[in-house]
Amino acid sequence: MIRSVITGTGSALPAQAVSNAELAERVDTTDEWIVERTGIRQRHIAGEGETTSTLATEAARKALDAAGIAADEIGLIVLATATPDHTFPATATQVQHALGCGTGIAFDVAAVCSGFLYALATADSMLQTGMAKKALVIGSETFSRILDWEDRTTCVLFGDGAGAIVLEAREVETDGPGIIATKLHADGEHKELLYVDGGPSTTGEVGKLRMKGREVFRHAVVNLADVLREVIGDAGVAVEQIDWVVPHQANARILDATARKLGLPAEKVVVTVDRHANTSAASVPLALDVAVRDGRIGKGDLVMFEAMGGGFTWGAALARM
Ligand code: UT7
Repeated sequence: MIRSVITGTGSALPAQAVSNAELAERVDTTDEWIVERTGIRQRHIAGEGETTSTLATEAARKALDAAGIAADEIGLIVLATATPDHTFPATATQVQHALGCGTGIAFDVAAVCSGFLYALATADSMLQTGMAKKALVIGSETFSRILDWEDRTTCVLFGDGAGAIVLEAREVETDGPGIIATKLHADGEHKELLYVDGGPSTTGEVGKLRMKGREVFRHAVVNLADVLREVIGDAGVAVEQIDWVVPHQANARILDATARKLGLPAEKVVVTVDRHANTSAASVPLALDVAVRDGRIGKGDLVMFEAMGGGFTWGAALARM
């Protein structure tokens, strides 16, 4: 069978890390509140010259190196972001140009924090139908640029960064590597709980992020547990067979609650929210790259990805490395 196999991972972070204590000098908050309610200890904030496309390009370059393939072998780039460099063109086209990938397919997907799951499922489908043989799937964000730095209920939660994977269409055995199952959902009813209060077709301004965190939290735990069960069912695997969960890193308490609901031991959950905060579409591939490079996730491991974000959108995917 043909499967989309993850053959390389990479990530990139802005040079500047900002601790909770540093943030507390500018915003009415404390390190204690942030750590206790979210698990976040620091976040990286993009500086001058660092944008969604520069971070994406760096992450993608590392993923290409890890996969051992040249940029011009890439026929498809799907980049998930809610903070593109420009309203258009798609940031993916700028990454394609910067890497020297030639003139294959390149486009962005907008599904906010679940963007990477949407991009992964899209790239997987396109590889399955033969539209390309090798793809880059990237999540990259500079949320610091859409935060209201006067709003302590949101500005302490997010960070900037990028993560990327190389996906290659390969002939494999049933128990071989590759994406095994994906499931995506959206429900526009809850827009007001998490959105940006601007845009090209409404205010003509970029706008700032607005969130009713407590309500989002409640929906996140329910939706994530449901979609994880769906993917586990579709893939025909037992929860005990899953080696690692690489979740969207919004809040350590959401990670704990979701794992508990499914009966997954906390040791199997990759946690990076403490150092990266919530990097939206970048958080899953960033966490994956961390766990691959520190040797936790290796060849043959069964890995679950999951995310939930603005829209709402949510999804999960199961892959064997
Ligand atoms: O990635 C997309 C998905 N996003 C998420 O999943 C985010 C989900 N939500 C959350 O992670 C949590 O709801 C938050 C971390 C956003 C908030 O935690 P919470 O435990 O739900 O707190 P809360 O919003 O109920 O606020 C509790 C108190 C409030 O004070 P009062 O009204 O009880 O006096 C807030 O004003 O904490 C106060 N507060 C703060 N205090 C110090 C809110 N933000 C801060 C802050 N520092 N930064």
